[in-house]
Amino acid sequence: MKELIEHIKQRFIEEFSSEPILVASPGRINLIGGHTDYNQGFVLPAAIDKYVFLAIQRSEKDHSTLISFDKNERFECKVEELQPIEKGGWRNYLTGVIAETQKLCGPLDNVNVIFGGTIPEGAGLSSSAGIENSLAFGLNELFDLKLSALTMAKISQKAEHNFVGVKCGIMDQYTSMLGVEDHLLFLDCRSVTSELIKFGNSDIEFLVVNSNVKHTLAEAAYNDRRESCERVAKTLNKKALRDLSLMELERERSKLSPDDYRKALFIVEENMRVRKAVQSIQKGNYDQLGRYLFEAHQGAKELYEISCPELDYLISSAAKDPAAIGARIMGGGFGGCTVNMVYKNQSEAFQDRLKASYEAKFQKPCTIYKIKFSKGTHRIEL
Ligand code: GLA
Repeated sequence: MKELIEHIKQRFIEEFSSEPILVASPGRINLIGGHTDYNQGFVLPAAIDKYVFLAIQRSEKDHSTLISFDKNERFECKVEELQPIEKGGWRNYLTGVIAETQKLCGPLDNVNVIFGGTIPEGAGLSSSAGIENSLAFGLNELFDLKLSALTMAKISQKAEHNFVGVKCGIMDQYTSMLGVEDHLLFLDCRSVTSELIKFGNSDIEFLVVNSNVKHTLAEAAYNDRRESCERVAKTLNKKALRDLSLMELERERSKLSPDDYRKALFIVEENMRVRKAVQSIQKGNYDQLGRYLFEAHQGAKELYEISCPELDYLISSAAKDPAAIGARIMGGGFGGCTVNMVYKNQSEAFQDRLKASYEAKFQKPCTIYKIKFSKGTHRIEL
């Protein structure tokens, strides 16, 4: 990892002949609380030890140069002329953050940026939030903007809404920015405040299993889900689905289309599960926590309809395996990763079994990462 940052720094000095500010910004897992964030509900994520590294400095020219180290692609633009780019990929994450920062702080000078990292892309581990946050943080350091961590996370979220075109909640950017080593964040997405939850069982570890199905078509489906939720809230006169109880939903069911009803039912149940999951951790009842994870996956599959055969297979395999305590789909859905809680002393054998059977079934490998809960976006000195 250190090597990658050094390479990025080296490349920066070669390209721009100046010493950059270096920033690391992590990806995240979400233990439970799928799609509850944009319903002003609860989530239980953690920043992880996979990062975007970004090098930044003022530009000497009349334009900015942005470089993706991993893709070896570059993009030149002027900070005063930024617009979303159709199919712009990584470019929109960066230009979006510069544009949104300027909306808040006024015009900025042009910058040079090189970024790269270790968060697999399109896997539901929020590589995009990592990119956005690393730049928001980098701009804040470079221009001494005195923005709070929460404001920077919100800038990143706005970039996602206005430049990338995904109407995401605040979970990814918040967690990547404000994560704390060895802790989960019990985040209330209405007040946007979090409580630190220490995971106190050292016999258990967390694995992220990448189905290697890229969730490229998921953006439209994500925005559709969000619209369903907002339609139900409006029909039932609620500010957000966070305010809807199971009883009210059942009582008012006839006012909703069957599809909207199923989507709302998932969110209402998922919000309850997050709170119960936190209590299970606090009571040390990890088997119960695991059951909530499996239930959450079932709901994501049958009610919210965001799963796919590969993810379902990974979860049903975990459910049958005595080494796994719980597992669920993670992130937006339609591919990407599952999160798994497994007994440490059986983890290797579990991984071998899962890899072999997945490959036999789908003729492609799954990739497994053991992750640690880590600290949020920060500066690095080399
Ligand atoms: C994506 C979004 C988040 C959240 C999750 C689903 O990661 O960016 O805001 O909605 O999906 O839980």
